[in-house]
Amino acid sequence: MSLNGAGDLRGRTVVLIGGGSGIGLRVAHRVVAAGGRVVLGGRTASRLAAAAQELGDAATWQTVDTGDTAALAAFFDGIERVDHLFTTAASYEVGPMRELSDAAAASPFDSKFWGQYHAVRLAAPKLADDGSVVLMAGAASARPAGLAPAYVACNAAIEGLGRGLAVELAPVRVNVVSPGTVDGQLWANRPDTVREAAFDQYRRESVLARPAAEDEIAHAVLYLFTNTFTTGSTLYPDGGYTLR
Ligand SMILES: NC(=O)c1ccc[n+]([C@@H]2O[C@H](COP(=O)([O-])OP(=O)(O)OC[C@H]3O[C@@H](n4cnc5c(N)ncnc54)[C@H](OP(=O)(O)O)[C@@H]3O)[C@@H](O)[C@H]2O)c1
Repeated sequence: MSLNGAGDLRGRTVVLIGGGSGIGLRVAHRVVAAGGRVVLGGRTASRLAAAAQELGDAATWQTVDTGDTAALAAFFDGIERVDHLFTTAASYEVGPMRELSDAAAASPFDSKFWGQYHAVRLAAPKLADDGSVVLMAGAASARPAGLAPAYVACNAAIEGLGRGLAVELAPVRVNVVSPGTVDGQLWANRPDTVREAAFDQYRRESVLARPAAEDEIAHAVLYLFTNTFTTGSTLYPDGGYTLR
């Protein structure tokens, strides 16, 4: 059994789809600092190239859209071994059931749920026995922040998927990270008024009275990669949002 413990990813290959920005890029920095290599995936070559340049020789990248299973298969064909996989890639709409079209309501499942499902399925033959998968969910699963029932259900479904895959893929470990609101790239891309209202709500309603930093979520992901006895767990780095 490998004694690769927390903080040591020497000789490991970590695949980060969505790793060209945001939480995935913070994870990439932590992996490289721990001695690992990263393979970044995403849809925009210029974003991936800039991220890889920031990370140095330990990073390579390849464009891929998680909504295209043939492209995902080709992406994994080019990778010899996957020690850890984390997929932040997702594009979806959120909103109330009474207002969203059926296609918009289905978009979190189409992209965030099935995108990750297919990524794990296509990575599975390459996953090292002592490796792991971390799925990305969101603490809205446990405590809805606004009116977005399909998005809430999608995150709860991803947490269930993590438990089911932990049983099927053992000894590969499968865990879920379910963050609260993060002050980072995703919210920076949204309108100022929407972002400020969400952050104010989070300051009022979370125990730690602030949104997370992206690196605080990345730290939780590294724990799930490296703790060799944690599987089937969902970790909530949410500043206590789900307690209240
Ligand atoms: N930030 C938060 O407050 C928060 C809280 C809870 C959960 N989450 C979850 O975290 C994930 C987003 O991560 P983030 O916050 O780090 O946001 P982000 O910076 O927007 O990262 C998403 C990355 O995924 C890529 N991407 C999007 N759709 C893709 C697709 N179909 N195929 C391949 N790549 C794709 C994007 O690049 P391209 O557009 O160039 O492809 C981008 O680099 C989502 O699942 C979100 O629900 C975020």
